[in-house]
Amino acid sequence: MEQIQESKVIGVPTPRIDGPLKVSGSAMYASDHHFPGLLYAWPVCATVANGTISRMDTSVAEKMTGVVAVYTRETIGKLYRVPPSDGFSMVVDERRPPLADDTIRYYGQYVAVVVAQTMEQAHAAADKVKVSYRRDQPVLSGQLLTLPLTTAKPEEKSKRGDTAAALKAAPAKVDAVYKIPVETHNPIELHASVAVYDGQKYTLYETSQAVVNHRDVMAAMLGVPPEQVQVITKFLGSGFGGKLWPWPHAVLAAACSRNLRRPVKLVVSRPMMFQNVGHRPAIEQRIQLAASADGKLTAVQQDYVNHTSILDDYDEGCGEITPFLYSTPNLLVTGGLVRRNVGNPTAMRGPGAVPGLFALESAMDELALELKIDPVQLRLMNEPSIDESLNIPFSSRHLKECLTVGAQKFGWSHRTLEIGSMKRDGLTIGWGVAACSWIAARIETAATVELRQDGSARVACGTQDIGTGTYTVMAQVVSHVTGIPLTKIDVVLGDSSLPPGPISGGSWVTASMTPAVLEAARNACTAMLVAAVKADGSPFKNRKQEELEFVDGTVRVKGHAQNAVPMGRILQAAQINSVSGTGKSEGTFGDPKPKLSFHSYGAQFAEVTWQPEIARLRMGRVVTVIDAGRMLNPRAARNQIEGAVMMGVGMALFEETMYDERSGAPVNNNLADYVVAVNADTPEIDVTFLDYPDYELNPLGARGVGEIGLAGIAAAITNAVHHATGIRVRDLPIRIENLLQSPASGVSSV
Ligand code: MOS
Repeated sequence: MEQIQESKVIGVPTPRIDGPLKVSGSAMYASDHHFPGLLYAWPVCATVANGTISRMDTSVAEKMTGVVAVYTRETIGKLYRVPPSDGFSMVVDERRPPLADDTIRYYGQYVAVVVAQTMEQAHAAADKVKVSYRRDQPVLSGQLLTLPLTTAKPEEKSKRGDTAAALKAAPAKVDAVYKIPVETHNPIELHASVAVYDGQKYTLYETSQAVVNHRDVMAAMLGVPPEQVQVITKFLGSGFGGKLWPWPHAVLAAACSRNLRRPVKLVVSRPMMFQNVGHRPAIEQRIQLAASADGKLTAVQQDYVNHTSILDDYDEGCGEITPFLYSTPNLLVTGGLVRRNVGNPTAMRGPGAVPGLFALESAMDELALELKIDPVQLRLMNEPSIDESLNIPFSSRHLKECLTVGAQKFGWSHRTLEIGSMKRDGLTIGWGVAACSWIAARIETAATVELRQDGSARVACGTQDIGTGTYTVMAQVVSHVTGIPLTKIDVVLGDSSLPPGPISGGSWVTASMTPAVLEAARNACTAMLVAAVKADGSPFKNRKQEELEFVDGTVRVKGHAQNAVPMGRILQAAQINSVSGTGKSEGTFGDPKPKLSFHSYGAQFAEVTWQPEIARLRMGRVVTVIDAGRMLNPRAARNQIEGAVMMGVGMALFEETMYDERSGAPVNNNLADYVVAVNADTPEIDVTFLDYPDYELNPLGARGVGEIGLAGIAAAITNAVHHATGIRVRDLPIRIENLLQSPASGVSSV
């Protein structure tokens, strides 16, 4: 593939071009949209997790002040199921349309929706809808690995060699079970829909990480052609995967607008965020490792089970990274599902890899201890030369350098092996390491670039900026090709009517979007040269196109900078408003016969401090070294990794959604009781990018960054905790109760 090495804008730390809009409060998020005649919808949520609606009385609610309508299964109108599909079209987490039947399968399931003049009126009336249930005991807990599996037997995800035999024969072994509780996405921006139906067309302002898919799903569920639906998400207050696919509230809002011919706003409340819009499922993983006495892996087995909802099959895919991370002749990964009375789980930042690496990288630490080999060394010793699961080369892999650079920056050589042996300022310190990886891919993208009479450019692509910096990177790519400064480039995205762009998922937007935007910008420059030689009034009229070049927003005879004419002047003279070019790039994701293994890599080093006298555990610092291709905007990229590390701190130390066993209600359904890492928990974070371009993926060598930063953090922390305390926490989050048994603890547990 073409390789672009030199650039004045690519690779330069660049402040977000949308920053001023955000800090001035003028960026329009979904729920900011307001229209004349706007009504507010508030759903009625089931108060049981398993049962049947036996009676519903809406009469009180209907008479309340401001109430316009109360919709139930009988009155909401026709809603359809989306057809099954592969890939990234028609993806929806909950396939059953809202209010489709009277069976309750999870706590909070929508059973009715109230529409009123104000949100408060709608909320108050929703509370007065009386629903009676025949209730059954919900199924919520139990050891996942020992429960009967929903899938007849665990599915084989990857296999090579004879794992059973190798496990039996090995001199060194680890066999342990690792657990992750339900984690709930808590972006600051609540999910929201503002639906505007004008009798023909739906304009839907949504919190979406994938506007094109959202349009197609909504069209299918509403039973109209996609041209009659437009989905707009100009800004997103983060999503973390929770906003990748449409949820039932969006369908309810659109249906209410359809029924009333009025704009309808529905904002999902924070408590509803814990039950109606996905979560990372509860997961149990058994990891078995076998190695020779000198530390060479001979077998790896990973058996994972995650919970899913009653009706939909969400597979967390915990075995995604295991098959290629280390060299081993024998490997087996299996996965299974267990049904629970919960809403459907969904992708949460780094789905599969993040929980999978917690287990695998914890087990690697346990193996290192067993073998008395340094954990960094153990990983270096088991570096594969090819992707052994597919027998293909890596596109670009520098995991060893991540580990050695990280070790050096962290000061790893000063680590002493014995538990609790390292002290500083009266604190016990623990050091842990984990390797990480994340898939890199491109998905099909189209884009257009326009060059305009006023000297500005416009770039359009039906992708989204979910807070990660897509606006800025798109402008950088256009600026790189055209030489037009960032301040004169308008980026238009977040609208399903634009050329279809990638989902903001998998950290794939940058890799997917750049080849299409490069091509579109180049085609726009060519269109400008065509206009220069052909259009009446152009100062270059009748010259040969090959004699001209487009440089820094001007057209000139090749090499003759002194005669350069600004593009705006040519268009003015020719009375043309703008010229444009289109670009397209193919997807690589899901290629059944890939020639290369595309992944990013990293090494996470964590320090914790431990005060055994008062059982106080604190984060010390994190050194993270990331090999994720070329960083197009190192400033935004660093911000992504720092944020991801903080999510890793939350995963390791705090996050856990708890359910009432009787009602099935998430009980810590607010930001006071569901603890996320905050500024006070922030360790010193040292981010290093190796910055090796991956030219096999796209001409700029970009892979993508975001999710990789979370992968491995929880294991690095639990490994550090073990080093400080001697306690191996295999069941997240780390609770202080776990550590009271520490041999290095002076606190006796009562
Ligand atoms: Mo990411 S969990 O693919 O939004």
